[in-house]
Amino acid sequence: MKLMVVGGGGREHAIIKKLKENPEVEVIYALPGNGGIAADAVCVPVAATDIDGIVDFAVSEKIDYAVVAPDDPLCLGAVDRLNEAGIECFGPTAKAAEIEGSKVFAKGLMKKYGIPTASYEVFGSAGEALAFLETAPLPAVIKADGLALGKGVTIAGTREEAFAAVRTVMEDRVFGKSGDRIVIEEYLEGPEVSVLAFTDGECIKPMVSSMDHKRAFDGDRGPNTGGMGTVAPNPFYTEEIAQRCMREIFLPTVAAMKAEGRTFRGCLYFGLMITSDGPKVIEYNCRFGDPETQVVLPLLESDLLTVMLATSRGTLAETEVRFSDRSACCVIMASEGYPVKYKKGFPVTIPDDLLPKVYIAGTAPAPDGGIMTSGGRVLGVTAVGDSLAEAVRNAYEGVGRISFENAYYRHDIGRRALAAKVD
Ligand code: AMP
Ligand code: GLY
Repeated sequence: MKLMVVGGGGREHAIIKKLKENPEVEVIYALPGNGGIAADAVCVPVAATDIDGIVDFAVSEKIDYAVVAPDDPLCLGAVDRLNEAGIECFGPTAKAAEIEGSKVFAKGLMKKYGIPTASYEVFGSAGEALAFLETAPLPAVIKADGLALGKGVTIAGTREEAFAAVRTVMEDRVFGKSGDRIVIEEYLEGPEVSVLAFTDGECIKPMVSSMDHKRAFDGDRGPNTGGMGTVAPNPFYTEEIAQRCMREIFLPTVAAMKAEGRTFRGCLYFGLMITSDGPKVIEYNCRFGDPETQVVLPLLESDLLTVMLATSRGTLAETEVRFSDRSACCVIMASEGYPVKYKKGFPVTIPDDLLPKVYIAGTAPAPDGGIMTSGGRVLGVTAVGDSLAEAVRNAYEGVGRISFENAYYRHDIGRRALAAKVD
């Protein structure tokens, strides 16, 4: 089979490596891929947001199956357009992807169908939002409605910060149209858990749970990033919580999307907070998480392509989705200064024996034939172990053997999970 994967980060590298385990796969094209992905796929210089370019390529190369991984092309209707052109795809339609593309839509869905989430208000003008914040409880959580590269959420501890967040989004319009409306919601407390799940629109099969580390610096300090590391499974996600999530969140969400005429097929990502009041949804994503994928897929024992085809074809109920009971840890090596400002263009050296464990993100081909840094998150090193402690130790051992100028990583990925005492 000829496959195509849209996207070019560490998540896409993990998907490509897993897909390649299936002997039926002859070739994988990555649009656009990156310098490191080029070792495992044919990189084609078509941007992940160039929907016409993606469809033209898929049709001219007679692609058998396409995987659309990032949020932007999904929300722009890449799957709809590929399907219209006769290309079978993994991923939701634009109407279903709105579960991530619009927080106002997602919150409305949860309210209508009684899915537990933080209470909230929606505002279409800065004036009304500022007036509400004069007396709203603190901290206040302010979210731009649309996609904002993971930067659209502010947790404001003071009124001044809350007012500033509203002005940045609605008056300075730093996220453009994504800031036409905002959601202001109740602040929730508790450990966070990411659960990715395969769904064909009827049946939903959750993957092993994971824990992201979103803040830039050790001790969960500093600005929010795309994610500096992950571990799986997440010790806060007990069997009892998992059963509640299935009953109160996962099945109701899939049924709600179907009832709204937005049947969701693909990977649905639940960002959950385990509050004293039970699990609640913080956010939905319409795709695999990055870097959650880099710890979840290495633990998948079933064939990824078979499972993906089952989600597209509506046969997930009959398809086995089995995970190993081992643990995994991924440590992201970034460029110093990420997510704010950083230098790039430095050569990256990875020992050959480590390559199977490394998922490469922000890199470009270097003039000497190697690769060089070209982005904030450069790569992730994943290790699998019989225990979480072993996985964490091995991931850091790998990090210690990779070098590039200006490299930065957190030293405490997995620490909170290792310290967790869960009843
Ligand atoms: P997001 O960009 O939606 O992933 O949100 C970024 C982070 O903000 C989440 O991972 C949470 O840590 C935090 N967050 C979002 N919503 C809430 C909330 N209602 N209460 C507390 N923290 C939140
Ligand atoms: N790691 C969080 C996300 O992919 O949105």
